[in-house]
Amino acid sequence: MEKSLGASFLIFCLHLGWVSCQQKVEQSPPTQSVQEGENTTFSCHYSDSASKGLQWFKKHHEKGLISLFYIASEGKQKGRLRSTINRKELLSSLYITDSQPEDSGTYLCAVEPQ
Ligand SMILES: *[C@@H]1O[C@H](CO)[C@@H](O)[C@H](O)[C@H]1NC(C)=O
Repeated sequence: MEKSLGASFLIFCLHLGWVSCQQKVEQSPPTQSVQEGENTTFSCHYSDSASKGLQWFKKHHEKGLISLFYIASEGKQKGRLRSTINRKELLSSLYITDSQPEDSGTYLCAVEPQ
């Protein structure tokens, strides 16, 4: 079974709610299709080396944005989801192992300003 894990990037900062800011964030790939059981990786490049941390969200069609991870310096794992951050390369990755149909959706990353 093939499903689409859409990843779109929002440019916003977690600061007093959803305030857009100058931070440049790029997520790749924009969309991808994976087979059930496969592993998937999303990457998020940001531009502000002084930022405090980064948050990964999943957009849920009923519940809205669900926070998956907040990472500041080290990777985190939650079930089949794992997230890492490389502060030198200004890169965060979200890994999904053994993809399941319920993983379908849109994943967002947000950078918290300094
Ligand atoms: C997915 O990642 C897990 C953990 O790293 C690994 O054990 C597994 O072999 C990978 N599966 C595929 C299909 O590559």
